[in-house]
Amino acid sequence: MKKLNVRLVQMLIFSIFLVSAAGCGQEKSHSSKTIRVGVVKYIEQDDYINALTDCLRDNFAKKEKTSQMHIVVTVKNGGGKQAIQDRVVEEMIDAGCDILCVDLVDRTAPTKIINMARRNDIPVVFFNRELVREDLMQWEKLYYVGGDAAVSGVMQGEMAADHIVLKNSKKKGKGKYDPKVDRNRDGRIQYVVLEGETGHQDAILRTDEAVGTLTAKGIKLDKVSYEIADWSKDQARNKMTQLIAQKKNEIELVLANNDAMALGAREAYEKSGLSKEDYPQIYGIDGLKEGLAAVASGKIQGTVYNDKEGQAGAIAQLALALIEKRELRDFSLKDGRYLFLPYQKVDREEAVKREH
Ligand code: BGC
Repeated sequence: MKKLNVRLVQMLIFSIFLVSAAGCGQEKSHSSKTIRVGVVKYIEQDDYINALTDCLRDNFAKKEKTSQMHIVVTVKNGGGKQAIQDRVVEEMIDAGCDILCVDLVDRTAPTKIINMARRNDIPVVFFNRELVREDLMQWEKLYYVGGDAAVSGVMQGEMAADHIVLKNSKKKGKGKYDPKVDRNRDGRIQYVVLEGETGHQDAILRTDEAVGTLTAKGIKLDKVSYEIADWSKDQARNKMTQLIAQKKNEIELVLANNDAMALGAREAYEKSGLSKEDYPQIYGIDGLKEGLAAVASGKIQGTVYNDKEGQAGAIAQLALALIEKRELRDFSLKDGRYLFLPYQKVDREEAVKREH
């Protein structure tokens, strides 16, 4: 009798293990209406990606309410290593995923994931980290959804230019810039770029386009430094603190590839002991809650809204259409595979509006 009880307990533990290890397959009922969506982020903690993933869950939950489908969404992450992400994807496929949504760790190394998906005939919607075209074209069930990164850089540059050049001023040369920005009144803007992760298309294009837009508008720039801060507020704060120690109040403009880094720069100034009049203009990109609040209160001068709702909506709709093998005619796919969502400028007035 005692032996039988031990056996029962063992079986119970084993079945609990099976259910929790199943990932995508957490749902026990295998009715034909159950859809298993596997979402694999590149890392556990990234504010923007987590907010986007929450929107994605909401989208699937809404769809579930208005349809006969039971949609099981499992979110995991690659721990910042491509090899780990490959393994997580493999587990999800083994557990019976119907569709994968993947934010690659290394956007140049999707081959393992593509091969596994293809062998098992599971479509993949990649998002946020754009894989190279040849990879995306390897198989017809691969798609990409993201923001139009170049546009976000242009918008950041345009907002900064609007604040630098004095409105309705006939002055030329040194006097044409707002003295609150060109604080040393040398007719040039001393600037710093805080860059996201090396090799990320958003980092590359945002930097190029923001600086290119300012230059194209005839604004004379002096590059003080480009610092890689990996999308991180802490790293940006540290890098900026070092720069302030070297350059004191010399920096007039900070272009950050995202809001987290813009906020890190602002914190570095707040801790620097410099007076507020000596702070540079700071611009970010993303428009998450904290970024919007900082623009609304004037802590940073602008951000560009990275439409997480739009991107999540597009990923969810595309995923469902692929599972249901529907025609994709209603999606405005570029080259049949890409969906790029627009960005929006957020200055102080717009941020205040969005906060209410
Ligand atoms: C966002 C960043 C985020 C990164 C992650 C970018 O589009 O602007 O905030 O850290 O994606 O890949």
